[in-house]
Amino acid sequence: MRKKIVAGNWKMNGTLEESTTLFDSINSNSDKFSDNVEVMVSPSFLYLESFINKGSKSVVVAAQNCANNLSGAFTGEISVGMLKSIGVSHVIVGHSERRLIYGESIEDISQKVALVLQSDMTPIFCIGEELEDRKSGNHFDVIEKQMQSVLDLSEKQFESIIVAYEPVWAIGTGETASPEQAQEMHEFIREQLRKKYGVLAENTRILYGGSVKPSNANQIFSKPDVDGGLVGGAALNTDDFLAIIEAAG
Ligand code: PGA
Repeated sequence: MRKKIVAGNWKMNGTLEESTTLFDSINSNSDKFSDNVEVMVSPSFLYLESFINKGSKSVVVAAQNCANNLSGAFTGEISVGMLKSIGVSHVIVGHSERRLIYGESIEDISQKVALVLQSDMTPIFCIGEELEDRKSGNHFDVIEKQMQSVLDLSEKQFESIIVAYEPVWAIGTGETASPEQAQEMHEFIREQLRKKYGVLAENTRILYGGSVKPSNANQIFSKPDVDGGLVGGAALNTDDFLAIIEAAG
């Protein structure tokens, strides 16, 4: 059975004080987490080290991005080696905000996935179509293309990846994919992975992201190919995030 994951993507939100309060309040409720759920939060790079040093066994701390080069003259970038050296274990790669606002290409994202894996960390690999793609019926093609970034991995590398399906039209819009739309796409994603990696695809966690909230989490997470959620806005509120974790358990 695949263990569910609820991951909070805090994006560019929160001062040190606000983020620490949020982290501590989630962590202090960890005795209520079900054994069937892994909980992660992804704060700003700036706070990763201090949160990791808190040594929580129940809340994994993930980075939101990494550079697609190992080192060198790349002002403002953060390398996988830097993340690894402070104890980061998981890195979100290919979030649609990175693709759309910062112009990250499928090739850039493939490089990042490979670098994260080479550093023995786990990529949370994000894919998702835009509204026009869905309206024109191209959403499966778009997803298939984006998935190229994880179809050249060795079996061992593949085993550690986590996929997040996040339809762009549902991110931060309050509009959520219906549980049926989510299941349909998750099933498609798993089928593509199965074609390449066979039975290993049965173990891959595929998270849904896009306006997950306490009121819809349960229905979405109950679909057979949905293995939890990547949560943005609702992850900034302790009660909402805890309710979503509970819905996954
Ligand atoms: P949202 O963001 O939950 O605010 O829609 C999800 C994400 O971008 O990961």
